[in-house]
Amino acid sequence: MQGRLHATITLPADKSVAQRALIACALGDIDHDSSPLSIARPSADVRSTARAVERLGGLQIERDEPTVLDVTPLGPPAELGTEEHPLQVDCGNSGTGMRLLAGAVAGLLATRPGHVILTGDESLSARPMERVAAPLRSMGAYVRTTDGHAPLHITGPHRLVALDHHLPVPSAQLLSAVALAGLAASGTTRILLPGPARDHTERMLAHLGVEISRSETTTTLTGPALPRLRPFPIPADISAAAFWMVAATVHPDADLTLPHVGLNPTRTALISVLREMGARIEVYPDDTLGPEPMGTIRVRSAHELTPITIAGSDTADLIDELPVLAVAMAGARGRSTLADAGELRVKESDRIDLTVAMLRSAGVEVSEREDGWVIDGSPRRHQVQAEAAHRVRTAGDHRIAMATVIADLSGVSEAPLEVDDRECVAVSYPGFFSDARALGY
Ligand code: S3P
Repeated sequence: MQGRLHATITLPADKSVAQRALIACALGDIDHDSSPLSIARPSADVRSTARAVERLGGLQIERDEPTVLDVTPLGPPAELGTEEHPLQVDCGNSGTGMRLLAGAVAGLLATRPGHVILTGDESLSARPMERVAAPLRSMGAYVRTTDGHAPLHITGPHRLVALDHHLPVPSAQLLSAVALAGLAASGTTRILLPGPARDHTERMLAHLGVEISRSETTTTLTGPALPRLRPFPIPADISAAAFWMVAATVHPDADLTLPHVGLNPTRTALISVLREMGARIEVYPDDTLGPEPMGTIRVRSAHELTPITIAGSDTADLIDELPVLAVAMAGARGRSTLADAGELRVKESDRIDLTVAMLRSAGVEVSEREDGWVIDGSPRRHQVQAEAAHRVRTAGDHRIAMATVIADLSGVSEAPLEVDDRECVAVSYPGFFSDARALGY
């Protein structure tokens, strides 16, 4: 644990919103008055998707610097490869990029011939892709996976039909893939989920003039539709803010301010859960105009944290925050439980296995369940000594690496912790280690 956590932290652009904005560049009508799309502090996933859309011909990258990524939208590409010379598009580590692009490309290939192959890095190539290929196929798209994984082959032309889709998991990535393909289908596409999921795609497309709506678990859109491209403000990533919200809540002397964070109600569950545990979090909305609400979050040390049980649809609302929520659970007095979170096993790593192992390295009492964990927490305030650090395995997963640092910084860990891979945090939060260093890590 470090002495004091007092700072204002500027966070990277929300990677869900930024990647959707980049993919839209290849789908819509160009408004000639519109300025280029500008994304502040882009993460590696955002950059990968920008390069992938550039490779498809849907945008031109004007400036790619650590603090800003500027692109000019080009609209639907004229050519998308041939059977003899497929267009190979690398999605890097980004599951959101690959799954949303699968839908977008399936839509583009409804009106023109072509052959696109979506590839990814080793971790992305191990993640399930049949779940996105199946609904696209049911619409009429030619989509082939490689034994259920990437590379994904998408071939056109095919005719897409508007259908009702009952998706097996409450995944915004799958929903968005179907919605983006649905832009090219005539009639009403309805997407029904078994639980709630983030609604950034619906908000963005509605902002760009598409007839689309979302009730709690059903998305309805009418095609064919061409989004009218125009830039919109992209908030800072609340899933990056999550690490500091937990750090400040658990640490005994903290006061952190996080400006311009996205406050979309489908992403703010961590604020409610931490408040329920006893956190002191204040939110000051900005008056920005655009599809996504945003504002400043201020978090101060909690006086006492009570344990919590997370299960059912709450797990989907917290899906990216669960590894760091485990750190807050470890700092609460008593038994906290996570259940119904099996999806965590197919994220960038098996996040149940790695979060449990990380907490054990921190000296926390934790047991692993097939779909979650049980943590016996205590409000320890360890003053970490200069003893040898315990090394934590991340399997290259950015959220495991950052949750590990927060376990150390906040005083939950009884020993210093270090991660086996620092570079991986760039996937969502490139400046994380310099921000952590400024706070004494
Ligand atoms: C995302 C949705 C979530 C989340 C991921 C980003 C998105 O995945 O874990 O980091 O941008 O739609 P699922 O929708 O597959 O749960």
